Amino acid sequence: MGYAQDFAKDCDYYDPNRKELNCILRNSKFKGKIIADIGSGIGRLSYPLSRYAKRVYAIDSDKRLINYANKIFKKNNLILINKKFEDFIKRNKEKIDIFLLSWPWYSKRLLRIIKHNLDNGEFIVIINDDNSEFGKLYNKLINWKETKKRKREKIKQDFILSLKREFLVKKFKKISLSYLYPNKREAINNILWNLKTWFNINGNRSQISNILEKYRRRDAKIEIPEKVIYFKLKKK
Ligand SMILES: C[S@@+](CC[C@H](N)C(=O)[O-])C[C@H]1O[C@@H](n2cnc3c(N)ncnc32)[C@H](O)[C@@H]1O
Repeated sequence: MGYAQDFAKDCDYYDPNRKELNCILRNSKFKGKIIADIGSGIGRLSYPLSRYAKRVYAIDSDKRLINYANKIFKKNNLILINKKFEDFIKRNKEKIDIFLLSWPWYSKRLLRIIKHNLDNGEFIVIINDDNSEFGKLYNKLINWKETKKRKREKIKQDFILSLKREFLVKKFKKISLSYLYPNKREAINNILWNLKTWFNINGNRSQISNILEKYRRRDAKIEIPEKVIYFKLKKK
C-alpha cells in the first residue's frame, strides 16, 4: 500500500467520535469565513470544515497526500494546494480569517509568519500530549537515548512557549479521545508505520503486540486513550 493510503488509515483509526473536530466547531464561527489548514495532510479536518466555512484552503507540501485528497474529496469550496505553506502565504492576496495548525511540525518561523498574517483573525492549534497513554506508549517504543529524548521534548516545549508568548490565548482545552483499531493486527501495522514515518524507527512487532494486550477490548478491537491540547489564539 502507498504512503497516502497508510496516512489515510491512520486518520481513520484516530478519534472515532470526532471529539477534536467537535471542539473546533464548538469554539469558532465558520460561517462566511476563509480558512487555511496548514499542513493539512489528506484533508482530514479541511473536508468536514468546508461544510461550514465559505472556503477552505488545504495546504500541504506533500504531493502524495494532496493527490490522494483530490481523488476522494470533491467540493467546490475546498481548495487543495500542494505547496509549502510559507510559499502559499507569500503569494496569497486574500484575507484569511482562521489559520488551523493540527499535529504540526515545530517551527518558530512558521509561528512568526502566521502572526504576521493574522490581523484580527483566529489561530487554532491542535497538538498531541506526550503524557497521554498513547504518548507514553510511543515513548516506550522509541527507546531513545535520554539526551535525544530530552532534545525532542525541548523542541516541542519551546514551540508551545513561543505560541503562548507570540499570541493571546483565548481558549485552552485538553481533549480526551482515543485511537480505535478494528483488531490487533491493524493496530500493530499502524503503529509500525507511525514509528517509521514520524521517527524513522523500525519497531519490534512482538514488543508492540505485548504492550497492546492491555488495550484489547472484549470485541477484539484495540482502544488506546490519547489526549490532545486545543488552543484558540488571537493576535496580541
Ligand atoms: C502530522 S501531519 C498532520 C496532518 C493534518 N494536519 C492532520 O491533523 O491530519 C503534518 C503535515 O504537515 C505537512 N508539512 C510539513 N511541512 C510543511 C510545510 N512547510 N508546508 C505545508 N505542509 C507541511 C506534512 O506533509 C504533513 O502532511
